[in-house]
Amino acid sequence: MLPSTIILVGPMGAGKSTIGRLLAAKFGYEFLDTDHVIEEKTGADISWIFDVEGEEGFREREAQTLRELGTQARTVVATGGGIVVREENRDFLKKQTAVVYLKASIAQLVARTSKDKKRPLLQVQNPEEKIKALVAEREPYYLDVANFIIETGGHSPRSTVQSIVKLFS
Ligand code: S3P
Repeated sequence: MLPSTIILVGPMGAGKSTIGRLLAAKFGYEFLDTDHVIEEKTGADISWIFDVEGEEGFREREAQTLRELGTQARTVVATGGGIVVREENRDFLKKQTAVVYLKASIAQLVARTSKDKKRPLLQVQNPEEKIKALVAEREPYYLDVANFIIETGGHSPRSTVQSIVKLFS
């Protein structure tokens, strides 16, 4: 049976927003992205929130937003890559039934974020090292909260969406 809420987790550059949007269209669901909702609510972009409130301030807003969106009916929710860092978020996600981990290789994550100026955590000397470190720290958490794992490697967004559709049919 088609779950009423589908939540996508995974690192920056895994394709959560692109795939989430396509998946929502396929099912006739609403698509929501935690980062986007935070930006709409605050009227500020994520980098600005990191600058002014620090990462902790952002995480606070993110946790609250997950609670608001994470059980909304007929919705696909894309989450920020760091959503799993807080234990309270992991506990929340573990109670849901359709959390999909979009897994990608380091090379793919690096390629998909290489021109990025919007993600504060990647504005460093060596973004590849940063991505590696974040994935090493967070992958156990993604695996812990996920009901399903989808490898995005080398597939088009459409074919990844097909794989997710198959999970639920
Ligand atoms: C973050 C990922 C970003 C955004 C913020 C922090 C992270 O979301 O929430 O820049 O800690 O991995 P995306 O995964 O959608 O890029």
